[in-house]
Amino acid sequence: MGEWETLQQQCMHCRACGLCESRTHVVFGVGDPNAEVLFVGEAPGEREDALGEPFVGRAGQLLDDMLAMIGLDRSRIYITNSIKCRPPQNRDPLNTEKEACAPYLQKQLQLMDPKIIVCLGRISAMEMIKPDFKITQEHGQFFEKNGRLMTAIYHPAALLRDGDKKPDTFVDLKRLQARIRQVCTRTKLDF
Ligand code: URA
Repeated sequence: MGEWETLQQQCMHCRACGLCESRTHVVFGVGDPNAEVLFVGEAPGEREDALGEPFVGRAGQLLDDMLAMIGLDRSRIYITNSIKCRPPQNRDPLNTEKEACAPYLQKQLQLMDPKIIVCLGRISAMEMIKPDFKITQEHGQFFEKNGRLMTAIYHPAALLRDGDKKPDTFVDLKRLQARIRQVCTRTKLDF
């Protein structure tokens, strides 16, 4: 078994925090672990917990549409969350839960070594880019950290709540597409 599969198996049986008592499935991630682009959301919701896959609810449908807009689909990137198990009633994860879960994302990053990380929403950006990240002011900007490019776009659930954010997100996605063309030599875009 490769290192990725070993990590996945460990994660699937994780009992490092209390979320293991209420979860139905651990949501490790979906897509190509060798991809050059990694998308990171917050935490699984009800549907993701039921199916064991990230972004399979309404927000996920919109995420698929956003990917299609720049010629991508799930098979050419990897999608995961900061937290791998659903917090009950979708409450914010506790600090202890975040700390218990962080090593999984860190190890995924180390093994994947992606060229570009796209944070979906403020929570992921605060964890991955900087603790004081301001999504309304800094979405779509690119940051270089540990030799990797990172950016954040509005979370698809936020776009469902507030359609006024969609035009900005379209611009951010086009900018992301240009960056992918620039730095990701193996990532095939449909157009
Ligand atoms: N929202 C997230 O941040 N992640 C999911 O997997 C689903 C909804």
